[in-house]
Amino acid sequence: MSESFEQLLGATRVVPVITIDDAQRAVALARALVAGGLPVLEVTLRTDAGLEAIGRIAAAVPDAVVGAGTVTTPAQLHAARAAGARFIVSPGCTDALAQAAAQAGGAFLPGAVTASEVLRLLERGITTMKFFPAQSSGGIAAIRALAGPFPQVSFCPTGGIDLELAGAYLALPNVVCVGGSWMVTPELINAGDWPRVTALAAAAVAATS
Ligand code: 3PG
Repeated sequence: MSESFEQLLGATRVVPVITIDDAQRAVALARALVAGGLPVLEVTLRTDAGLEAIGRIAAAVPDAVVGAGTVTTPAQLHAARAAGARFIVSPGCTDALAQAAAQAGGAFLPGAVTASEVLRLLERGITTMKFFPAQSSGGIAAIRALAGPFPQVSFCPTGGIDLELAGAYLALPNVVCVGGSWMVTPELINAGDWPRVTALAAAAVAATS
């Protein structure tokens, strides 16, 4: 029986959403985030380096829980699992993707924003969902409203969330974690400014615990 996304999260409430161009920087980046108290890492497949970055982190940073984000096809899902991704995040969901996730096993966090999208995931037994793009999809007010018809659903909002907003989202009872890239911007990664990444991660932990 594989672990659910919520089990993998444990006490973690902020998930860095990493988009990386150079896989050789992945291990140092992951170590910097773990050192700051953020061990659950989503590496998006938006760049060619994403899969290799996942593999490197899985192999070299045992304290990190690395997953793949922006997974939009069954082929990407299987490749990410093979590379070592312990969880799979998608901005939305399709039947093909949900079937591939069930087949591949492992934690799966697909996205839903509307009531109908939530209903389709519930039909598959999925109760923890990404909410993306959070800020432009109604943000805190929308997630609060969805708690009415869907008290059994927990959301992980991402998209436009920063340090200031994170705490407000996490104050909602139906938000289990938030995702964001503010502590892993391309500028920080390209500069290799790992102490700053650690400091921003620690600040995120301090602001949300
Ligand atoms: C995601 O895929 O979750 C988002 O792109 C992260 O959003 P942000 O870059 O606005 O934090």
